Amino acid sequence: MRHVISSYDFSREEFHKLFELSDEILGGKLKPNVNGKVVSLAFFEPSTRTATSFATASWRIGAKVIGFTSVEGTSVEKGENFADTIRMLENYSECIVVRHKFDGAAKFASEVSEKPIVNAGDGKHEHPTQSMIDLYTVYKVFGQVDGLNFALFGDLKYARTVNSLLRALTRFKPKKVFLISPQQLRARREIVQELNYEVIERDNPYDVISDVDVLYVTRIQKERFPDEMEYEKIKESYVVDLKLVEHMKKDSIILHPLPRVNEIDRRVDKTPQAKYFYQASLGVPIRMALLYTILTG
Ligand code: NCD
Repeated sequence: MRHVISSYDFSREEFHKLFELSDEILGGKLKPNVNGKVVSLAFFEPSTRTATSFATASWRIGAKVIGFTSVEGTSVEKGENFADTIRMLENYSECIVVRHKFDGAAKFASEVSEKPIVNAGDGKHEHPTQSMIDLYTVYKVFGQVDGLNFALFGDLKYARTVNSLLRALTRFKPKKVFLISPQQLRARREIVQELNYEVIERDNPYDVISDVDVLYVTRIQKERFPDEMEYEKIKESYVVDLKLVEHMKKDSIILHPLPRVNEIDRRVDKTPQAKYFYQASLGVPIRMALLYTILTG
C-alpha cells in the first residue's frame, strides 16, 4: 500500500473520495471496521490534535493503537536511531503515523518501511493530512473547493501546513490565492514557483480581506526559527481581531490548523466566521476515512 508523504500524493479524485467517505462516516452510512489491525503512532515531536485524532480515528474503525507521542521513555533516549525505530514498528503494525522535527523524515521512513507511512508533519516541510482536514472543512461549508478566494495569513515560511495546503490546492481551481505575511515570513520561493496557479503576495491584510472566502491563519512557528533573535523581532507582528473580521464577507470563514497562540484574538471565536474548532473536529472522520482506505488497500 502507498505512503502519504505529501499533498501531491493525492489526486483531485482521491481528495473527493476521502471527503465522500468521511461524509458517509459522519452520516452513519458507513461503519468502517478493519478488525483489529494495528496502527503505530511514532511522534518524535509534540502534538495534541494530530496524535489524539489519529488515535481516536483508529479506534473508531476497529484498529488498535500502539506507539508513543513523546520520545521520553522510548529507546530513542538510549540513542536508537530513527530508522531502527521505524523498522521495529513495521513489524508490530500495519501502518505507521510519523511526526518528526526533520524535513524529509517521513520520506526517509517510507524508504525503510514496507508498511504504509503517514506523514503527520515533518519539520517545516509538509503535513498532508492537515490539508485534507482544511479542504474538507471548506468542502463542508461551501459545498466545493473550486472557485473560492483563499488567503493564507501569518508564518508562511516555516509552517508546514501552508506548504501542504498550497500543494493540495493545485488539485483544485481556486479563484484567487493571497499570501499575506510580514516580509520575513513570506512563503518559500521553491514552493510558490512550482504551483499551477498565481499567488498574490501582500503585507497588509486590509488590502484584500473584503475579497476573501477562506482566511487560513497560522501561528509563528517559533521552534523552527534558526535564530531566536529573528523570532523576537517578528513575534506578535500580526493578529486577526474583531476589526479585521468586520471587513470580511458575512459568509467567509476563518481556519487555523491550531494550536493558536495569540494570532487570533479570542473574541473572534464567537463570530460566525470562526470555523477553526469545527475544522479540528473534522480531523477524526477524515483520518478514519484515510486510515480505512490505507488499511483495506
Ligand atoms: C500544526 C503542525 O503541527 O504543523 N498543528 C497541527 O498539526 N494541527 C500547526 C502548528 O503547529 O502550528
